[in-house]
Amino acid sequence: MQLYIPCLFGLESLVSEELQELGADKKDLIVQDGAVILGTTPSSWREAAARANVFLRTGERVLLSLSEFPARTFDELFDGVSEINWEELIPRDFVLAVNGFARKSALTSLPACQGIIKKAIVRRLLSAKGLPLTAKLVEDPGAGTLRIQFAIVSDRARIMIDTSGESLHKRGYRPLATEAPIRETLAAGLVRLTQYRPFGSEAFVDPFCGSGTLVIEAAMRAFHVAPGLRRPFAGESWPILGKPFFEKARAEAYSLQKPISSEPITFFGSDIDPKLIPVAERNARAAGVYEGVSFEAADAFTRTPEVLNTLTDKPRQLILTNPPYGERLLDAEKAEELYRAIAGLYLDSDGFCRAGMRLAVISPDDTFERFAGRPADKRRKLYNGNIRCQLYQYFKLPKH
Ligand SMILES: C[S@@+](CC[C@H](N)C(=O)[O-])C[C@H]1O[C@@H](n2cnc3c(N)ncnc32)[C@H](O)[C@@H]1O
Repeated sequence: MQLYIPCLFGLESLVSEELQELGADKKDLIVQDGAVILGTTPSSWREAAARANVFLRTGERVLLSLSEFPARTFDELFDGVSEINWEELIPRDFVLAVNGFARKSALTSLPACQGIIKKAIVRRLLSAKGLPLTAKLVEDPGAGTLRIQFAIVSDRARIMIDTSGESLHKRGYRPLATEAPIRETLAAGLVRLTQYRPFGSEAFVDPFCGSGTLVIEAAMRAFHVAPGLRRPFAGESWPILGKPFFEKARAEAYSLQKPISSEPITFFGSDIDPKLIPVAERNARAAGVYEGVSFEAADAFTRTPEVLNTLTDKPRQLILTNPPYGERLLDAEKAEELYRAIAGLYLDSDGFCRAGMRLAVISPDDTFERFAGRPADKRRKLYNGNIRCQLYQYFKLPKH
């Protein structure tokens, strides 16, 4: 049995690392573009699926893979889907919702693929019940919904059942829409990429924090607050998987959680817009880390390294941030001015870190390094939804 875990492009290796931390063996993992596949056994997949849903910070969904087969034509797709034992998987009267994607394949029309897959499933169910193929299958929303996902890549189809429901980036702590929030799964990935070690001499700071996502995700990781504690999963109402596995995973997560405290202050966010501070605080409370984070309204440029050292009472600061940029929030000229100012605040004129500072900036704009005066010490291509971004990390100090 395989669990297929799609993720944002660029985060695959982080999903794989997380799965290994959850106990998966590296040899059971296949890393693909935009997904990681975890091999499990018929007796372990339920527990693995529930734990992946509750604990994974960088994966987007946990799907149970049912079958993989060549699908160069609609006939091949229909036949492959028909071979799955749907009568053992679909509870009576469940609504069937079919969704998916196709890449680098002859079959490109998603509505047509959806239609074919649904038709193949319905026919299989009708014939298993001994009903004529012209009969109508009852689908009652009151009974439940089974989300069936397909992925057609390079003319091979994979048919899966979604055990997550809403995408895993929806942790349940950020219901209010603010402008340009970063996706929670990407924020968690960035925290990992900076290799931030909490509770030492380095504070975690986002001086353009908006709704607080980066600070909240960093604090959740540090205090071992699992991202799936406060949301439901589709697999809980699918009898083949069921609630007990999720309850067990949540109980395990609670037992691993550390006491949350802000002594000393370690996770710190600020934003120039005072309206966003209560939003960030509300989100932190909903995420279960309110006591461990601090937010304040401030212009980032008044928060020099010296001021941050005093505010956080730590000699070192990791700045991880996604400043406003282009299109939606700023025009290009203003964004350039802002990048120059950010670089000048935390880096010296040669582009090396000021004493005690590390800087990690995510931006969809390729120009940050020009204003920093030096190529980043590490650069990584990532995607915030469909928007291509770069994470620029600066950690080298000047050589004296
Ligand atoms: C792209 S948004 C950050 C979104 C955030 N990561 C989130 O998940 O909600 C950029 C933020 O920078 C803030 N900002 C703009 N200029 C600023 C400045 N000079 N100092 C501090 N914050 C500023 C904006 O108010 C906006 O909330």
